[in-house]
Amino acid sequence: MNKLILLAFGVIFCFTAINAQKLENEAKVEALLAKMTLEEKIGQMNQYSGFFDATGPAPKDENNKLKYEHIKTGMVGSMLNVRGVKQVREMQKLAVEGSRLGIPIIFALDVIHGHKTISPIPLAEAASWDLEAIKQSAKTAAIEASAEGLNWTFAPMVDISRDPRWGRVMEGAGEDPYLGSKIATARVTGFQGDDLSKENTIAACAKHFAGYGFIESGKDYNKADVGTSTLYNIILPPFKAAVDAHVATFMNSFNELNGIPATGDKFLQRDILKGKWNYSGFVVSDWDSIGEMEEHGFAKDGKHAAEIAANAGSDMDMESYVYLNHLKDLVAEGKVDVKLIDDAVRRILRTKYALGLFDDPYRYCDEAREKKMIRHADHEAAALDLAKKSIVLLKNENNLLPLAKSGEKITVIGTLADDKTSPLGNWRLASDDETAVSLIEALKARKGNEITFVAGPKLLEKSPMFHENSAVNTTDRTGFDEAVAAAKNAETVIMVLGEHGMQSGEGRSRANIDLPGLQQELLEAVYAVNSNVILVLSNGRPLAITWAAENVPAILETWQLGTQSGHAIAAVLYGDYNPSGKLPMTFPRHVGQIPIYYNYKSTGRPGPKWEVFWSRYTDETNAPLYPFGFGLSYTSFDYKDLKINVKDKEVEVSVTVTNTGKVAGEEVAQLYIRDRVASVTRPVKELKGFEKFALKAGESKTVNFTLTGKECGFFNNQGKFIIEAGDFDVMVGGSSAKGVTGKFTLK
Ligand code: GLC
Repeated sequence: MNKLILLAFGVIFCFTAINAQKLENEAKVEALLAKMTLEEKIGQMNQYSGFFDATGPAPKDENNKLKYEHIKTGMVGSMLNVRGVKQVREMQKLAVEGSRLGIPIIFALDVIHGHKTISPIPLAEAASWDLEAIKQSAKTAAIEASAEGLNWTFAPMVDISRDPRWGRVMEGAGEDPYLGSKIATARVTGFQGDDLSKENTIAACAKHFAGYGFIESGKDYNKADVGTSTLYNIILPPFKAAVDAHVATFMNSFNELNGIPATGDKFLQRDILKGKWNYSGFVVSDWDSIGEMEEHGFAKDGKHAAEIAANAGSDMDMESYVYLNHLKDLVAEGKVDVKLIDDAVRRILRTKYALGLFDDPYRYCDEAREKKMIRHADHEAAALDLAKKSIVLLKNENNLLPLAKSGEKITVIGTLADDKTSPLGNWRLASDDETAVSLIEALKARKGNEITFVAGPKLLEKSPMFHENSAVNTTDRTGFDEAVAAAKNAETVIMVLGEHGMQSGEGRSRANIDLPGLQQELLEAVYAVNSNVILVLSNGRPLAITWAAENVPAILETWQLGTQSGHAIAAVLYGDYNPSGKLPMTFPRHVGQIPIYYNYKSTGRPGPKWEVFWSRYTDETNAPLYPFGFGLSYTSFDYKDLKINVKDKEVEVSVTVTNTGKVAGEEVAQLYIRDRVASVTRPVKELKGFEKFALKAGESKTVNFTLTGKECGFFNNQGKFIIEAGDFDVMVGGSSAKGVTGKFTLK
């Protein structure tokens, strides 16, 4: 009893202490705000990207000279893309020692999936369904980023998307709002920890608010038109989860949502985020998204854009310059109320106090810690652990996998097999090229089998950097015949195919999602001479690999797994780790099926009936190639004894899962419901619970879920959350396509 009382007192004490600190910070914010001139307030709302050397002489080129002067005169609230303790310290000194009030700058970077030690791309991390590992990944990233002087990351990206043509699906958690919400919480908590003022935690940023993942035709930056049911039930939940996890900042999005650019959308930023959700952090625009409202045809010029954005609730201007250039006049002209300026600056200062930047502006500038923490062995181990858990086994006919440990002649084909940069993915600003372990390196580091590598034709004309593009190679067949000849003499062929790291990510939408370039032709030519092929996919988005699925005996989805990529794939190929990943996004059979997702609506003609008159294609099935939640194992799992017990407002669901195979393995038991009849139609299936666990061969486990109003309810078209009585279907299984089923009635 004493322990419980002590624990209770401890919790109350911590809670009180945190609140006391918040109250103290609020008082400091008000006191500082009262001293600030209007120009100084506007300066806090201005963010620049730092592409000049702060440790060198003052920059000479006009643009950077302007930034340098503005930093020294308190006209810059935040910098992004400043890297390294030395640079941050010098930039901070300019602001703190140069400006009248010495307000520190907050330093940001896109630390999306790791910093120097790169973890799997977020879509791969989502495939692990391991929330603790995902949280640890964000925590590791925060430790390394903060060791380099940074206090703020523009992550997690929580945009739900059903369109693999969009290059940025690699950056999110896939198509489902329930999984997306859990992952948003895990990542925010990982980045921010329990105390933002600690020197190894950083402010997170829920982005892109909102609807970016629903851009038309999958084309980046395109318009998004969505109905209220999709907005409230699919798009907004992960953002609300981030708010509930106390995410320090938000970023709005480039796209227009239903005719209003999100950056200038008062409904999103003030009515929902700061009003209904009572959000106390601040909103940063996306890069020049305020200025781009002119291109949208929503603002007549920069000044008008500044007026719209400030009134709509966009608190900080990233690289548009329009706040600095126009807000003072807009206030003088009565077009922007100074109260809104104060509100924006209050939010920004609040975050800087929470980060401890006023106590010590150089808190994050410790060269010794920088040396010690960057690429720390613990970080590499965590990256390897999560990389293994992110791999999805899509096919394994005749148990071709795992490979024998010795005595085999294995030929590895594909330039991606020895690519040490692509596994780092697209969003790896802080990492260095050539720092990933390639699959070839990892395979050759293991003894026992004879490994031969033949690259085959190049994938791209040249290997692009972040800001570059590169054409897919469809003409240079150098290496093609050599690869086929090598396959002919091999016992087993491993083909590593997919996308270069810069073929997905921002600005990399694709109109077709087949294997790019000569890869499909090469795969078929190799298979024709040796059908013992293991396809290892390395890609940033679902691909329509239908021919491979119908012909190739074994397929591993390895995404882009970060620094430890090669070792993770080798561990799965050799069975040192039994693959446990599950798809966070549907794989289409054909790009023409997009958008295709598991939580679709029935329609009035789900069919098949009346021959042709039902919801279908005449030239393709409705079914996906691989469904959401799907993933195989080297063992097998059986689900039985589904029990459903309705207790007043809760529904208890339990199922027994048995490992019916010969080796230990991990399973992700997924619970789906269907609300049969509702005042707004509900999907045929909705994920409302999951649990990942390990089972030894022959071992069984009872998995328990509890459904409450939160899981059974939904948002109506007025944005109101409602719970309706009625009949529900339940399914529990290892994917969204198969499981044991039952029913219950909610009174
Ligand atoms: C980019 C992205 C955004 C990123 C920002 C800063 O254009 O849309 O996600 O955080 O600019 O790099």
